[in-house]
Amino acid sequence: MSGNLEPKPRILEIEPYVGGLSDIKGHENVLKLSSNEAAIGPSPKALDAYKLYAGNLSRYPEGSARELRSTIGKVNNINIENIVCGAGSDELLQLICRAFSGPGDEVLFTEHSFLVYRIAALASGASPIAIPETNLCADVDKIINSISKSTRIIFLANPNNPTGSFLTRSELLRLWENIPKNVLLVVDTAYAEFVTHKDYDPAFKLVEKAENVVVTRTFSKAYALASLRVGWCYGSSQVIDVINRIRGPFNVSGAGMKASIAALLDSNHLSAAIELNSKWLEQFPREISGTGISCMPSVGNFILLKFPDDIEKNSKAAEKFLYSRGIILRNVESYGLSDCLRLTLGLDHEMETVALSLKEFMRS
Ligand SMILES: Cc1ncc(COP(=O)(O)O)c(C=O)c1O
Repeated sequence: MSGNLEPKPRILEIEPYVGGLSDIKGHENVLKLSSNEAAIGPSPKALDAYKLYAGNLSRYPEGSARELRSTIGKVNNINIENIVCGAGSDELLQLICRAFSGPGDEVLFTEHSFLVYRIAALASGASPIAIPETNLCADVDKIINSISKSTRIIFLANPNNPTGSFLTRSELLRLWENIPKNVLLVVDTAYAEFVTHKDYDPAFKLVEKAENVVVTRTFSKAYALASLRVGWCYGSSQVIDVINRIRGPFNVSGAGMKASIAALLDSNHLSAAIELNSKWLEQFPREISGTGISCMPSVGNFILLKFPDDIEKNSKAAEKFLYSRGIILRNVESYGLSDCLRLTLGLDHEMETVALSLKEFMRS
């Protein structure tokens, strides 16, 4: 870097996060299935609460998110004193890194996991360590074997984005049992609401017995309030106290809190989102079976599609073909998955359009 201003060491190693595309030149109505927001959109009650809040915009919001934490506590049957809310779970992941790691420390995560873990580690001056997966799934033994004296944080996305895989309750417990007590295990459960598998554990009980476990959640995905930027985390009193010391005093907007509360209380809307998602998790792989595209098994609201190597049928060619139809899936090259695209599960007609287009692409 030229000039006199030098950022902290490691900051310039960060590749800025590039989100999925939102528009395609020449297409007025794009079909955007690339950012994992629930297909049915937010609860109408959340939208009403958001609009109703308009009269209060001149005032600072309540700084401890008490009402929102209280609702999260009631709905999930967890203690509100052990919850902190944030401007999306992104903010909380960054704060956790900043508070618990620094130069000389190692921050672990798995090979194809959420890009923010690496960014957060470097921003705090720590070394990011990507651990190989097995069959696109976190491998508990490989994580345990990668722990060193310098390890401070392990990020585990459960389920993982973009692979859609997850660790079962017993594997998660085995991971925790084998990490030193001075290492913080961050279980990022951004997609927890969608998971219907009986062996999945949202990890609240683990938080309640372990000082060194923190769970993060978001209103961006199943509640489809991504633009409002609201997330939360649940952790031991020690972890929560630390995050509260460094977070911004008004880090969650008033409108975001009110809409999130209304969304949480509309359990019928959430059930409808989950039901539609479960239907397409099952149906979509059948729709495109035999085409040569493989669907990675997923428990989230997205599916990783693996394309053949053939230059005419690979993920690049598929992406281009889909763009020509006004369809955007997530390019996951930056996740080290250049042979794949990630499809966010959409509404019935959207899923039918994508399935038809992919079949046509593979036949063309
Ligand atoms: C695994 C995972 N964690 C966290 C997030 C961040 O979500 P938000 O900051 O909107 O809460 C995402 C978003 O894509 C994600 O996929």
